[in-house]
Amino acid sequence: MCEPGLPPMIKWRAPSPTALSACVRSQATFWNAAARRRLFPGSAQPAVTGAPAWQAAERRGNLLTTQSYLSAAIEIAKEAGKILVEELSRPLNIRYKGDEVDIVTQADKRSEQAIVERLNKYFPDHSVAAEEGTGKERSSEFRWHVDPLDGTTNFAHGYPCFCVSIALAQRDTLLAAVVFNPFYNELFAAARGEGATFNGKKISVSKVATLSTSLLCTGFPVRNRKASPNLQYYGDFTQRSHGVRRDGSAALDLAAVAAGRFDGFWEFGLQKWDTAAGVLLIEEAGGKVSDFAGNPYQLGGPVVLATNGLIHEEMRAVALEISRRPPTPVRH
Ligand code: IPD
Ligand code: CA
Ligand code: CA
Repeated sequence: MCEPGLPPMIKWRAPSPTALSACVRSQATFWNAAARRRLFPGSAQPAVTGAPAWQAAERRGNLLTTQSYLSAAIEIAKEAGKILVEELSRPLNIRYKGDEVDIVTQADKRSEQAIVERLNKYFPDHSVAAEEGTGKERSSEFRWHVDPLDGTTNFAHGYPCFCVSIALAQRDTLLAAVVFNPFYNELFAAARGEGATFNGKKISVSKVATLSTSLLCTGFPVRNRKASPNLQYYGDFTQRSHGVRRDGSAALDLAAVAAGRFDGFWEFGLQKWDTAAGVLLIEEAGGKVSDFAGNPYQLGGPVVLATNGLIHEEMRAVALEISRRPPTPVRH
């Protein structure tokens, strides 16, 4: 079973509802009592008993804080996940954000409200950048990047590839990350320097060493679709690999690279909340994240290339080749 404050130790299968709720309960207890007491030493929290993870972490100095942040993020992502699953069986309430296919649902809003409320309560000094705009900028070096529902289009069509994505950065350094698909109870988590896990089990990127034997993934924007150059990249990479999937949730796509399900992923025009958690997952799982020029990826940068590291340069070379060709006109 799981230790308080750590993700559940469950193998590569969906945990039973009983196991999962036991872990959620123990993590919530750990966080509410121990982690909050540590982070806010002045606050009146009950003393913690029987918390070996807590005591071990305490001996390791500042690691405690990062693990505590992660425990908080896991607790909050699971809470938001419950809302998404609940909303999945309710009548859809869709609005379009622009004149294309940028959808927002009641689920996006309810999930964000729950996450932001909890972050504000636990970390009243931290900034929160959340996709639907209810976060708050504060004068703190800590910032939470929140996508309350990544994969809204999938969600709206009942295709169960969607997630909650939450990451914490201290200035430019990502510290903690959670990507949670509540439909399949798949929880990806990472704390800087501590590795990445899938349902509590350590994960690492794949060992596939050539582009021609790799499975890739990409995504397409929901705004300015005609301006996106990605169809050309999609075509080329499809012909040079085992194939390119398009799953419709960038956060889950990145988590899948971290877990070795995909060997590489790229996408243009993603936002900070789409990629923050996935980037830390991949780095902690031993992969590589950059832009197409090979520079370190900046959150919200124009393009992200995330791989197992082994096929990174090959993918970059192909991307460079495509970028030098005149663009193929898209017929409408
Ligand atoms: C979208 C998904 C999708 C990606 C889009 C994103 P949303 O996020 O991550 O996979 O291709 O670019 O906007 O709108 O579902 O949160
Ligand atoms: Ca998103
Ligand atoms: Ca979203």
